[in-house]
Amino acid sequence: MSRIAFVNGRYLPWRQASVHIEDRGYQFSDGVYEVCEVRGGRLIDERLHMARLERSLKELRIAMPMSLKAIGLVMRETVARNRVRDGLVYIQITRGVARRDHAFPAAGTAPAVVVTARGLDFASNERTAAEGIAVVTVPDNRWERVDIKSVSLLPNVLAKQAAREQGAKEAWFVDRDGRVTEGSSTNAWIVTRDGEVVTRPADNGILRGITRTVLIEALKAQGLTFKERAFTVEEAYGAREAFITSASMIVMPVTRIDGRPVGNGAPGLLASALRRDFHRYAEWA
Ligand code: PDD
Repeated sequence: MSRIAFVNGRYLPWRQASVHIEDRGYQFSDGVYEVCEVRGGRLIDERLHMARLERSLKELRIAMPMSLKAIGLVMRETVARNRVRDGLVYIQITRGVARRDHAFPAAGTAPAVVVTARGLDFASNERTAAEGIAVVTVPDNRWERVDIKSVSLLPNVLAKQAAREQGAKEAWFVDRDGRVTEGSSTNAWIVTRDGEVVTRPADNGILRGITRTVLIEALKAQGLTFKERAFTVEEAYGAREAFITSASMIVMPVTRIDGRPVGNGAPGLLASALRRDFHRYAEWA
């Protein structure tokens, strides 16, 4: 089946789905994005993703290209036209097309909008979750506004590649004090030997993941001991469990950090249970 993308107001066949060479996203990474899970053809936590999109745009002073309602319709139409049941929908908004100049283009320059959707291999993800994944740690060399979901992802790209080259699925960024910030495209969590679930506070040092937000609600609802605090790499090495969260990974157990087994080296019981239960706490739309 041929894929379809929404590009600046039109649904186009994949081969024709291109943007202008002077799109500021292409030239300056001057844009933002969102990735929303699609499950059973429905969008998961759309409202929270749209709220974060609005915030990212506002922080970068990029105009909202259309109403949130219209964006919702386009995302659904893109999902439907690509016949995605389980997968992801991606939206990217840049500051638009203008002659190359670092400063903002003239007021009224239309932001550029791209929406794509693709299926994920459900069974393969479940197999990965049943085995757990390896992560490696890398220094966090990003700017101070990683709370904005900008398409400027070069350190994340290099970190993920470093992980791949070491046979790992994810890289965890570590700040100057030896504390884990987050993964290259996921949030990072541990469960301590005392059974406390820990993740870093959502200050400017991490992206406030939507999966993270919903999981915190789930932890509270289940009465589990949860703390938002930074944890060191050493603490993670000695943790009972570790896991990562994102729209594409949901809750994914981590079984090795820098080559060392986490806990007994098998996916954690709590992480696996949280993965199983996550969608009970998510909003389906
Ligand atoms: N990544 N931290 C970073 C740096 C991320 O890029 C992401 C999401 C997350 C998790 O956020 P959420 O739970 O809202 O997906 C944390 C997306 C999936 C991506 O870039 O593909």
